[in-house]
Amino acid sequence: MMNKGKLQAAITAVHGYVPEYVLTNQELESMVDTSDEWIMARTGIKERRILKGEGLATSDMGVKAVEGLLKKRGIGAEEIDLIIFCTTTPDMPFPATANILGDKIGAKNAWGFDLQAACSGFIYGLTTGAQFIESGKHKKVLVVGGDKMSSIINYKDRATCIIFGDGCGAVLLEPNEEGNGLVDAVLKSDGSGRPYLNIPAGGSLNPASHETVDANMHYAYQEGKTVFKFAVTNMADVAAEIMERNDLTADTVQWLVPHQANKRIIDATADRMGLNPEKVMVNIHKYGNTTSGTIPLCLWEWESQLKKGDNLVLAAFGGGFTWGSVYLKWAYNG
Ligand SMILES: CC(C)(COP(=O)(O)OP(=O)(O)OC[C@H]1O[C@@H](n2cnc3c(N)ncnc32)[C@H](O)[C@@H]1OP(=O)(O)O)[C@@H](O)C(=O)NCCC(=O)NCCS
Repeated sequence: MMNKGKLQAAITAVHGYVPEYVLTNQELESMVDTSDEWIMARTGIKERRILKGEGLATSDMGVKAVEGLLKKRGIGAEEIDLIIFCTTTPDMPFPATANILGDKIGAKNAWGFDLQAACSGFIYGLTTGAQFIESGKHKKVLVVGGDKMSSIINYKDRATCIIFGDGCGAVLLEPNEEGNGLVDAVLKSDGSGRPYLNIPAGGSLNPASHETVDANMHYAYQEGKTVFKFAVTNMADVAAEIMERNDLTADTVQWLVPHQANKRIIDATADRMGLNPEKVMVNIHKYGNTTSGTIPLCLWEWESQLKKGDNLVLAAFGGGFTWGSVYLKWAYNG
């Protein structure tokens, strides 16, 4: 696809933050009936990070990621036009975490909003942010993906506590006329999947009460097997679809950047695309599933290996159900 001369939204900087505390499989063995072998074999996760400390929330991880990003790009926070904060664990129901982040970093000229699409949040946010660049409306859009999953996990529920971790990544979108940037997106949602992955209470359906707290309804609930089956088919399907409609082949794709939910789901997607493992970004063993954070954290970790013009396919799947894939051409040498 030739896009030279067309206004495209390109990622021009990326940064991330993971908290210091490491929650290992061994520590989980002392909390629930599980084992390091079982967790590794079924998910590929060895450890995850947990944000500890009084008064620390998702926005605080956002501050660390964004301050690093602004420093790297050599710009001030007041230059940001828009902040999209993709999160399922906002600091509070309102105001938006994007507003809180904007205040904490001093983004005086930005407007912003939160985007909630569970684990697909970042690719939804990236696609949304790109529209404001492509239309010419904005020059600098921050897309932040981060979650403090430990705030909604029941550490007595072995079906969920082994999977999730805390972390946050951020990218800056700017106009590009060299043919690099976001090229295409396939985004999907199916709300009939809501019984299988959700937080039952705390919204308008079941407002917080003593009963909802006693029934553990403020924690993430997951029917793992159903989610797995849906994810394994649909994440691979959208990745294959985006390759096909952009005439991409296993040889012309340099990187798959998959949501890190389960190593087996990542492998199935890579297999379907015909990609060798060395083209697949995987850090699930270190961080688990950080929900909106997984994809920008991968981009951050692999940034130094990325070359201008590389073809990247991003793919994600999450609660809702939501899923999708983004094709972008990387815009700078890392
Ligand atoms: C959660 C998940 C790892 C469970 O793996 P699974 O292979 O589906 O395992 P099952 O749920 O069928 O359970 C198999 C057995 O292991 C047991 N088990 C479940 N969790 C366990 C744990 N943490 N440790 C040890 N045993 C466990 C089950 O009780 C079951 O035992 P049984 O056979 O005696 O009934 C897997 O379903 C999964 O990854 N699902 C998708 C989750 C996901 O990606 N979520 C995020 C979406 S963005």
